[in-house]
Amino acid sequence: MAISSTIRTMPADCDHDHTPLIITIDGPAGTGKSTVAHGLAERLGLEYLDTGAMYRAAAVIALDQNLDPADGEALAEAVAGAEMRFHWAENPPPLMLGERDISDRIRDMDVSAIVSIVAAQPAVRRVLVQEQRRIASGHPRLVTEGRDQGSVVFPDAPLRFYLDADVSVRAERRMKQLAEAGKPVDRAHVMRDIRKRDRIDSTREDGPLTRPDGAIDIDTNHRTAEEVVDLMESIVRENLPDATGHPSRIRP
Ligand code: DC
Repeated sequence: MAISSTIRTMPADCDHDHTPLIITIDGPAGTGKSTVAHGLAERLGLEYLDTGAMYRAAAVIALDQNLDPADGEALAEAVAGAEMRFHWAENPPPLMLGERDISDRIRDMDVSAIVSIVAAQPAVRRVLVQEQRRIASGHPRLVTEGRDQGSVVFPDAPLRFYLDADVSVRAERRMKQLAEAGKPVDRAHVMRDIRKRDRIDSTREDGPLTRPDGAIDIDTNHRTAEEVVDLMESIVRENLPDATGHPSRIRP
């Protein structure tokens, strides 16, 4: 595993560590990326960026403004003009559109139904990729998760993970989430949905879901989220011992 040497070390007694450290996590839906990315960020005292939430916010903008989700140019303009921002004072940071907290809204069915069309629009991706890099310049100690974080957005990140699991395992996790939310669970429907999302995410021309070259593979088939975080934390600490420091550096 090649680890780049761009990480500068901090004196051990420094209270506020501002040494840049970007860790990327990519992978398909149902691998538990959000849970483990947030868990890993907490363990390492880093901030957490959910880039899928940004594509979901773009879908909310399309619905709010009655825009065709496939009209990338018009939607990109609307996204660029919207006040989309994370409220960094909270952990995990809620996503705001102007003064409105859309953290719950972005998980609604109508949003999920169009988000992969939205995410396939190159013009929308351009705006959001630029925004993700801008966020990272202001929040340089970050665990960021999505589909293209290690391949396109932060290819120089010193550690890039790729999470994967079999479709059947990912479907089981999705069915559990639906059951917990009191929603109807139909295995065949869930499997079809996951396969369709995989196809759309991995065949789009711009920023497709792909395993970044040199990424560290994490098989989540037989591991709980906690076990995945344990494994990733040990890999980070082993490979970047000078860059990680104490978990409480940023947040108490
Ligand atoms: O991870 P998620 O389900 O919240 O992602 C929502 C959609 O956004 C999904 O279709 C994949 C897409 N996405 C993307 O294209 N690039 C990212 N960096 C993150 C998510």
